[in-house]
Amino acid sequence: MSEDPTDSKAQFETRVTRVGRDEALSQGLVSIPPYRGSTVLFNTVADLQKASGHRAYGRWGTPTNRALEAALADLEDGANAMLTPSGLSAITIALLASVKPGDHILVTDSVYPPTRSFCETVLKALGVTTTYYPPLIGAGIQDLLQPNTSVVFTESPGSGTFEVQDIPAICAAAHAAGARVLMDNTWGTALNFPALRHGVDLSIHSLTKYVVGHSDALLGVIVARDRDVYRQVRGFHGAMGITVSPDDAFLGLRGLRTLSVRLRQHQEGALAVAQWLREHPLVREVLYPALPGAPGHDLWKRDFKGASGLFGLVLKPASDAAVAAMLDGMRHFGMGFSWGGFESLILHVKPASYRISTPVAEGDVCLRVHVGLEHPQDLIADLDAGLSRLATHAA
Ligand SMILES: Cc1ncc(COP(=O)(O)O)c(C=O)c1O
Repeated sequence: MSEDPTDSKAQFETRVTRVGRDEALSQGLVSIPPYRGSTVLFNTVADLQKASGHRAYGRWGTPTNRALEAALADLEDGANAMLTPSGLSAITIALLASVKPGDHILVTDSVYPPTRSFCETVLKALGVTTTYYPPLIGAGIQDLLQPNTSVVFTESPGSGTFEVQDIPAICAAAHAAGARVLMDNTWGTALNFPALRHGVDLSIHSLTKYVVGHSDALLGVIVARDRDVYRQVRGFHGAMGITVSPDDAFLGLRGLRTLSVRLRQHQEGALAVAQWLREHPLVREVLYPALPGAPGHDLWKRDFKGASGLFGLVLKPASDAAVAAMLDGMRHFGMGFSWGGFESLILHVKPASYRISTPVAEGDVCLRVHVGLEHPQDLIADLDAGLSRLATHAA
């Protein structure tokens, strides 16, 4: 094979099979194995003094970690990327590296709840104040930017309620005011939402979800658009002693190779399930931006290249006991806090308990549904039986 492994003219589906591969590192094997190790030995003082990065000490990353970082930066057209031990640690490190005491930050009200907790605890203790803004604010964010606003944090679609944000408009306003834009791009993925091309400065992913893809490792990444921002965040990341196991980096690299085909299947299954749900008499709304006519569909169509298998489902009011009767008896949907693996999941979420405003009315039931790789007909039959149990319990 002689073509350039990072051939930027090739399609994503082709690039994802090639990025980060280095025959010198893999000794000719197709995949780079997990290089385990801490200490690197040097033959001379001069060699030791010249050493840097993964050639100096294991905490700064092994060749396996660096291969995954290079692959992820390449796929998102970033200057570089930093692995972290989880998606949440990628969010917290990116935030910590972007603020100083006395700063103000703007965070979407639809943010992943642990990100909100971090702002309310650690950032607050450091003297950083947070304002939660309505996710659909778009260019109107300019009215909320203060002279000391250093960060605008976005997440699109939003956690639990799936509002699609106008990221280009938010970036334009934030940059005009000198603020940095961070985005939790876990739902979008490098394939479906080119965050850095839309103006985001730091694109953050929980790789635990679709990149690892098999629910067997925790991993995160921060991809930086600009080399100077990368260096600044990397310095912070290094100073904090953040490191990732090469075994987990290996699982990330392995999952990455099949990302595009799995995502396509997740989207196809989710669309079939979402379309069926929309017609059900107990369903008030399906919050899946890829579904024509669903909230956010037009912006999704404008900015996204595809969708993941995660969406929200709003049911007409029912008691917690009726919802439990539905969920306790599911055959194919498991209950669990993550998503992005091959398996379907369903969870009762209550955004009204911590949000300033949500599209879910008082009393309505909000479920988060992850459509895995099972056949959609089996998933629909499972939901049909579950909704019947809910109706029977409620009667
Ligand atoms: C949108 C979003 N961002 C970040 C995270 C955190 O990822 P991790 O579990 O890898 O820390 C999650 C986890 O559920 C999530 O849903």
